Amino acid sequence: MTNILCIGAGYVGGPTMAVIAKHCPQHRIVVVDIDEQKIAAWKSDHLPIYEPGLKEVVSSVRDKNLFFSTEINRNIAEADIIFVSVNTPTKDFGRGAGRAADLQYWEKTARQILENSNSSKIVVEKSTLPVRTAEAMERILNSNGDNLFFDVVSNPEFLAEGTAIQDMETPDRVLIGGRETPSGQQAVQAIVEIYAQWIPRERIITTNLWSSELSKLVANAFLAQRISSINAIANLCEITEANITEVAHAVGTDSRIGPNFLQASVGFGGSCFKKDILNLVYLCEYFGLPEVAAYWEQVITMNEFQMSNFVSKMVHAMFNTVAGKRITLFGAAFKANTSDTRESAALTVCRALLDEHAQVIITDPYALDNARADLYDVADEIIFEPDPYLAARDSHAIAVLTEWPQYAQLDYDSIYRDMVHPSFIFDGRNILDHNKLYGIGFNVYPIGKPPQTHFTG
Ligand code: NAD
Ligand code: UGA
Repeated sequence: MTNILCIGAGYVGGPTMAVIAKHCPQHRIVVVDIDEQKIAAWKSDHLPIYEPGLKEVVSSVRDKNLFFSTEINRNIAEADIIFVSVNTPTKDFGRGAGRAADLQYWEKTARQILENSNSSKIVVEKSTLPVRTAEAMERILNSNGDNLFFDVVSNPEFLAEGTAIQDMETPDRVLIGGRETPSGQQAVQAIVEIYAQWIPRERIITTNLWSSELSKLVANAFLAQRISSINAIANLCEITEANITEVAHAVGTDSRIGPNFLQASVGFGGSCFKKDILNLVYLCEYFGLPEVAAYWEQVITMNEFQMSNFVSKMVHAMFNTVAGKRITLFGAAFKANTSDTRESAALTVCRALLDEHAQVIITDPYALDNARADLYDVADEIIFEPDPYLAARDSHAIAVLTEWPQYAQLDYDSIYRDMVHPSFIFDGRNILDHNKLYGIGFNVYPIGKPPQTHFTG
């Protein structure tokens, strides 16, 4: 039996350890966090995050070989392998503010591991980190001067929220990077053995430490770049009467390009894309590559334009004023099948509409609590309504901001009857039947396709 510890019981720590526990009944796995409420939730029937399939996996292994705890020091002492999946947000102070990763939680964890260890351990970077962080980690961990030795391994996580369990069960690949020393390679093999319990060996890629750390940032940058690329072209489609769905299909069927991640939208959100690209931009500047930094920064600039331009189009369409008008946002989560609202385009759009003095109503099946918390400073001005029919009642406009499939199944005849006319629908996800909505009477504004309106002249 190996004692595995995971520090950080968030969106990554909880789901990844639950799936490892499921496939490795021979190992004992403990997940710890400083957040007592979160640990209490992981121990209860109301898990702290919504993720399809997560509840089932957690309840099949919890209190068998998966445990949640706030006793960090004792569990460090007992662990053979420690995964660290604490948050690594963008630094908001001092040097590199607004770009560099804030590594204070990370460094605290390293020091805590050192202080509480009386045996050598493998420490695994699960969080997304700037390239060469492992060097600093090794220096701190191996500064003890006694007989203990810590191998640092990089094992970045590639799961996406909403499909976390599926992504863990059948990943495209698992990436494990380590030092090219005998001890470093042994540590890499120990982590390979864990994943090899259910993942074919050919999908487990091993590299040096720096390639592994950097590949995670690059993978997110490439994914976000595709979205910004298709969104850039969507704007051109709206003007030229080309149709972004047709263009994405025509372009994506080239096997060198591929069809995934070409869904034009109101803009990408989530806790990682922006943070990780800013981190990459900072690293490029730090290492003296300003042109490379500027190239990647455009991915973010384009995304910010996409969100603000969406609001501009709404205001323009609604006769250049939304002041005092009720506008209902369908969706608060940054994508479907999650309760996570971090960096959600829905919240950016909400704030911009409030600045225009609109009355905003937000509906979402799972993310309203997080939305309320994130919008705490303006929450008094917003109505949070779980029922989309009630939310849309008496509204001038609906904006679809999360691609929850249920929003495509609603009875829009009935919704239209209860709205103020002329009624507007802005489909920021292109999930609705635009011709049908137009037929009902809506003025319809998709992404990357010309609007369908009942106005003449
Ligand atoms: P999160 O905020 O959901 O979870 C991090 C947890 O770490 C929090 O619960 C926090 O309380 C805890 N924590 C912070 N400092 C601690 C300490 N000293 N001791 C114990 N616990 C501590 O973050 P997340 O979304 O799980 O992301 C974690 C890391 O994984 C980030 O680097 C992120 O970039 C990366 N990542 C996230 C995703 C994702 O889908 N969210 C996917 C891949 C990689
Ligand atoms: C992303 C990556 O997909 C994961 O591989 C990575 O592990 C993770 O970031 C991370 O490092 O945190 P996630 O942010 O959870 O995962 O979700 P995505 O499916 O990538 O969606 C991100 C955003 O892009 C969402 O707002 C989504 O709606 C949007 N998106 C996605 C589009 O607008 N168009 C697309 O074609 C795809």
